Amino acid sequence: MDGQATSDAFVAFERVQKSYDGETLVVKDLNLSMPKGEFLTMLGPSGSGKTTCLMMLAGFETATYGEIKLDGVSINNIPPHKRGIGMVFQNYALFPHMTVAENLSFPLEVRKMGKSDREVKVKRALDMVQMGAFGGRRPSQLSGGQQQRIALARALVFEPELVLMDEPLGALDKQLREHMQFEITNLAHSLGITVVYVTHDQTEALTMSDRVAVFNDGRIQQLDPPDVLYEQPKNSFVAQFIGENNTLEGVITEIRDDACVVRLDDGQEIDAVPINVHKVGERTRVSIRPERVEFNKERLTEGAHTIKAEVLEFIYMGDIFRTRLRVAGNDSFVIKTRNAPDQVRLEPGSQIEIGWHPRDCRALDAD
Ligand SMILES: Nc1ncnc2c1ncn2[C@@H]1O[C@H](COP(=O)(O)OP(=O)(O)O)[C@@H](O)[C@H]1O
Ligand SMILES: [Mg+2]
Repeated sequence: MDGQATSDAFVAFERVQKSYDGETLVVKDLNLSMPKGEFLTMLGPSGSGKTTCLMMLAGFETATYGEIKLDGVSINNIPPHKRGIGMVFQNYALFPHMTVAENLSFPLEVRKMGKSDREVKVKRALDMVQMGAFGGRRPSQLSGGQQQRIALARALVFEPELVLMDEPLGALDKQLREHMQFEITNLAHSLGITVVYVTHDQTEALTMSDRVAVFNDGRIQQLDPPDVLYEQPKNSFVAQFIGENNTLEGVITEIRDDACVVRLDDGQEIDAVPINVHKVGERTRVSIRPERVEFNKERLTEGAHTIKAEVLEFIYMGDIFRTRLRVAGNDSFVIKTRNAPDQVRLEPGSQIEIGWHPRDCRALDAD
């Protein structure tokens, strides 16, 4: 489940724990290893320990237990400014009294670089984020998006191999945020930079990352590429946190390695894939993605299972139809269908049968 630490990892957390007060662990036994050039996102609700992990990697917090390694070397005792890590945070933290060019020059001065070298590097970094014409302005004379690009340029100007970003786009409006998501991933990939990115926005995590580590309660719940995370959640927390999800509650009545039967609380029985359920009699929460549910019998695949449902609400959303159903006592069961020319609009009040392929139906923990 957690990333295995390997010797060729560029960034590695090995059995890392963190407590601020000496009592409660806010990071619990974190194991994570990243190859060079990877874009990894830590995704999770507020308070799940993401920033703490980033701060330990940056060197602003120390691990209570365990080891953090950069390129195979333990960095526990190396101060932040000697780790060679670039950082971007939500509040851009540009120096207001300095011009854009001076802001970018600063990390180079700290590293004792000469004036002419600094000028070359600053120009290159500004060009990289398409802000070459803005070197003489002060941060207050720039828009939010421009300031964020300068913050990005400042994190990259000393050519770090590793860049940490903590909710860097949180303050921007939707359109600019999506644009910057695209710019950041492009820049990171074209420069071959390794990025650890923190967000609580699942769309951002899914669209930007090579892999996503889903955090909850100080632990990585699942670490996988976006498509695996969405299509094969390993527990109820991940299934609920990533994307829209339908759940049906019941009890396991039969179980084999690759299939199980669940008696739902209204008595209907369905087939599912056992993921983290183990024995007959165990309570389970079955998870099915809205777009995997079909009500048109002709479209149901071989081996699909059907179940009764009542239509409660039909919502027209343009590209898709979102229909809310009552299924096995659950009034918030949603199905999504593409607005194709032959697509049927379901009438509220009607009784229908819905179905899905059992492999799309995952029996998870009931918590
Ligand atoms: N400097 C600190 N001192 C004490 N507790 C802290 C400090 N920073 C964070 N915490 C606590 O640690 C937990 C994890 O916080 P944080 O790492 O900021 O989570 P996230 O970034 O996922 O929102 C929270 O319960 C938070 O209150
Ligand atoms: Mg945080």
